[in-house]
Amino acid sequence: MTGTVSFIGTGNMGGALIHAACRALDPRQVHITDFFADKAADMANELGCCCEASNKDAVLAGDYIFMCVKPQVMGGVLKEIEPILKDCLEKGQKKTVVSIAAGLQTEYIKEQLSQCGDALRVVRVMPNTPAAIGKGMLAVAAGPEVEDEYVTGVCEILADAGRVERLSEHLMDQFTVVSGCSPAFVYMFIEALADGGVMTGLSRQQALTYAAQTVMGSAAMVLETGKHPGELKDNVCSPAGSTIVGVAELEKHGFRSAAIEAVKAGYKKNVDLGKVK
Ligand SMILES: NC(=O)c1ccc[n+]([C@@H]2O[C@H](COP(=O)([O-])OP(=O)(O)OC[C@H]3O[C@@H](n4cnc5c(N)ncnc54)[C@H](OP(=O)(O)O)[C@@H]3O)[C@@H](O)[C@H]2O)c1
Repeated sequence: MTGTVSFIGTGNMGGALIHAACRALDPRQVHITDFFADKAADMANELGCCCEASNKDAVLAGDYIFMCVKPQVMGGVLKEIEPILKDCLEKGQKKTVVSIAAGLQTEYIKEQLSQCGDALRVVRVMPNTPAAIGKGMLAVAAGPEVEDEYVTGVCEILADAGRVERLSEHLMDQFTVVSGCSPAFVYMFIEALADGGVMTGLSRQQALTYAAQTVMGSAAMVLETGKHPGELKDNVCSPAGSTIVGVAELEKHGFRSAAIEAVKAGYKKNVDLGKVK
């Protein structure tokens, strides 16, 4: 990608995307800033990218401006950068604002930046933390007013973060739970498998390694064979064997229902976050 990208916020998710962007681009194209300046300075030193002194400087430095702050503070930060963004656009500079905030619609971002007018492009990205090691699942949504070259630019910045797909914005809140939140659910599953392993005599380290490698391999089987997970599960369950006994216990304790309810609760929360004004 030609041009530059700025990240406002270097926390868990912003940090993961900064690492990915510095792999995909020349780190000197990447500019970062944070409320806690030392955090951004340390990360810039580690990655060889540029540390900016303020959010306004980050807006000046980036053709693409990734907003990586919590949804609750997004409105305030957008209002802070609005005048400088407006000024840049009036001078004919091309600026694309990219929000990664859970729940917030592009319409909300545009409303907060209403002084910027139609020249401003807004793109929404939903990443997950495995993006830090290039194994993320990311969705990119943009309205029809955003020219393809700018959506492609965003995808190029994220190219080393994992699998990147375009998605209609009306499905972003659902995607946010199934991909953005669910690493936490999966870590809980890995931890629980390992706890069971420790209870039956494995060391903690053995149990964690075996559980994590198995979850990774099982996920790869779903993606690479294209087979339904039910069929893959059936293939592991031999008649009167130990796997089907475990499957029955998971069903008895509402495993599947618990996962479905977790996704529904997360979705509802995302919709509520979107009502933040
Ligand atoms: N975490 C995830 O797995 C995940 C997944 C998908 C999407 N997201 C989205 O990613 C966004 C960031 O979440 P996160 O988990 O990375 O949060 P986080 O770890 O708290 O990071 C937010 C960062 O923004 C900084 N910040 C706060 N106010 C600022 C300001 N006024 N100007 C500049 N920087 C400011 C914070 O600094 P201080 O720490 O000094 O306050 C912090 O470093 C959220 O909108 C969230 O919805 C997160």
